[in-house]
Amino acid sequence: MDERAPLQVVALISGSGSNLQALMDAQRQGAPIRLQAVISNTAEAYGLERARHQGIPTEVLSHRGYADRDAFDADLAALIDRHNPELVVLAGFMRILTPGFVNRYAGRMMNIHPSLLPKFRGLNTHQRALDAGEREHGASVHFVTAELDGGPVIIQARVPVLADDDAGSLAARVLKQEHRLYPTAVGWFAEGRLRLGEDGRAHLDGRALQAPMLMEAAAAPEPAPS
Ligand code: GAR
Repeated sequence: MDERAPLQVVALISGSGSNLQALMDAQRQGAPIRLQAVISNTAEAYGLERARHQGIPTEVLSHRGYADRDAFDADLAALIDRHNPELVVLAGFMRILTPGFVNRYAGRMMNIHPSLLPKFRGLNTHQRALDAGEREHGASVHFVTAELDGGPVIIQARVPVLADDDAGSLAARVLKQEHRLYPTAVGWFAEGRLRLGEDGRAHLDGRALQAPMLMEAAAAPEPAPS
């Protein structure tokens, strides 16, 4: 049995918080993590309600009214550091982060991104995948570095792009996989199996990943009774 204390985690969100929910569910189901606080840059984020429902402290730090990114990120870091987390998870946190902020949490900040990185960094990934005629799309969890959506990828999940997909249907298919990916990666980190190496690569079980891990496909649904 693993006797280590649960990993102390602070989550940053901006929206629905369904990935946060997946992490909270994992914690409830016994994953060795403890969500200490959820911080949002907008008071309207539904994820705040999800966190309150689970009894997790929430904080809002609006980016509005800040003169520049450095000033906001400095206050955000101060808020995070009050909890002294071992890992910061970006769970739909829709802000570009300054290098100073990113470096402060080097090796202990992860992001989930809705594309098969390095494809489609940035926004509108699902529409861009459709426009590019991709037959496969997906999501990635990566360590955060100063390069936007450019840090070493830990694990990915792939989904097919179907002929009648629009951005909404594709996003829903990808999001379902995100909810499996994030608890897996955070769980590895919590178990001490995953770290960011000095070579800039993700290391799992003592070995540098040459390519991202791939989340195995979910079991196929039972065929409907005929
Ligand atoms: C997720 O699809 C996540 O990958 C994406 O925002 C969504 C948040 O959903 N993140 C980014 O695009 C970051 N660049 P959620 O609030 O329901 O977890």
